[in-house]
Amino acid sequence: MTVQAFDWMGRSIPFRAGESIASALDAAGIRTFGADTSGQETRYFCGIGACQCCVVRVDGVVREACVTTATAGMRVEALEKRRG
Ligand code: FES
Repeated sequence: MTVQAFDWMGRSIPFRAGESIASALDAAGIRTFGADTSGQETRYFCGIGACQCCVVRVDGVVREACVTTATAGMRVEALEKRRG
């Protein structure tokens, strides 16, 4: 069986078919997803697309990681680079 993966900040993250980006990141031990545009740390929280706590950039587009299905080869990154 071929393991599917996407890129998170230069790291290959495996996922199962139908799994969300946030779930795959959590399974890989990644609990925070970097700072948003206001400097607040993003993370997996409500899991239903309501809180906007998990926003990331997916192939250049801002999306909620908890309701976005992972696909092979996608590039996922924090909205903003960490400061300092
Ligand atoms: S965790 Fe709340 S919108 Fe994604």
